[in-house]
Amino acid sequence: MHPMLNIAVRSARAAGNVIVRAFEQDDKIEVELKGTNDFVTNIDILAEQTIVDSIQKSYPSHSIIGEECGLIEGTDNDFQWIIDPIDGTTNFVKGIPHFAVSIALKVKGKLDQAVIYDPIRGELFTASRGKGAQLNGFRIRVKQSKELTGAILATGFPFKKKQHMNAYLDIFKTLFLKTADMRRAGSAALDLAYVAAGRVDGFFEIGLKPWDTAAGELLVIEAGGLVTDFTGGHNHNNSGNIVASSSRLLKEILKDIRPHLGDSLNK
Ligand code: IPD
Ligand code: CA
Ligand code: CA
Ligand code: CA
Repeated sequence: MHPMLNIAVRSARAAGNVIVRAFEQDDKIEVELKGTNDFVTNIDILAEQTIVDSIQKSYPSHSIIGEECGLIEGTDNDFQWIIDPIDGTTNFVKGIPHFAVSIALKVKGKLDQAVIYDPIRGELFTASRGKGAQLNGFRIRVKQSKELTGAILATGFPFKKKQHMNAYLDIFKTLFLKTADMRRAGSAALDLAYVAAGRVDGFFEIGLKPWDTAAGELLVIEAGGLVTDFTGGHNHNNSGNIVASSSRLLKEILKDIRPHLGDSLNK
């Protein structure tokens, strides 16, 4: 295993232990609101600190961006870690056992290493640039689906940006009518990991942040899939609007998204 992936895995497991311990005795969880419908807890912050400490111990010069801590600039900006300590905080707060730790490393601006760890199921998704993607050490692959008929798509609702709801619902309706079904499980990182593992055929969501998608993007690519924005380009880190699936299915999904792009929603 690449030494930097090894550190990412160790950090994710350490954070996972913190998260599961708190999940099992939920009187230790203190919930606050960052914005409308946007929860954060003391455990998000504690888990993130655990990851930051672990990375900095091995790589003190690297930069880190975390959802809760923001940018921690290092002296070596060629290496940038992107952390989501709990992806699926709403599930975590409500007692729904579906959330993950997400850690990615970019080297000179390119995704290089990725870990998504589901501490409840003990599922560890890993990827290294050019080396494929694994679940608990076993190779995983994106389902090479060709059409929406029979497909299951994962998605997320724009609960923080309800001004996008109409555009989102138009896209949802168009795709829903063609697919077998949709899933809204509550963790974008796990949605992407499930695309990589072939558990769902594809994923689309609007308004995501780099820490939601960085590790998942490398997993999907290394598992033989594609990740784009809503026009088929690569602006998803800015727009937050993302599609992931096999290349054939992605074309079909984009065809159905395109007519709904407009002022409120682009790329
Ligand atoms: C959220 C989850 C959710 C998605 C939200 C994200 P968080 O991340 O990934 O599935 O729909 O947009 O913000 O806030 O729980 O880390
Ligand atoms: Ca959050
Ligand atoms: Ca997240
Ligand atoms: Ca989070």
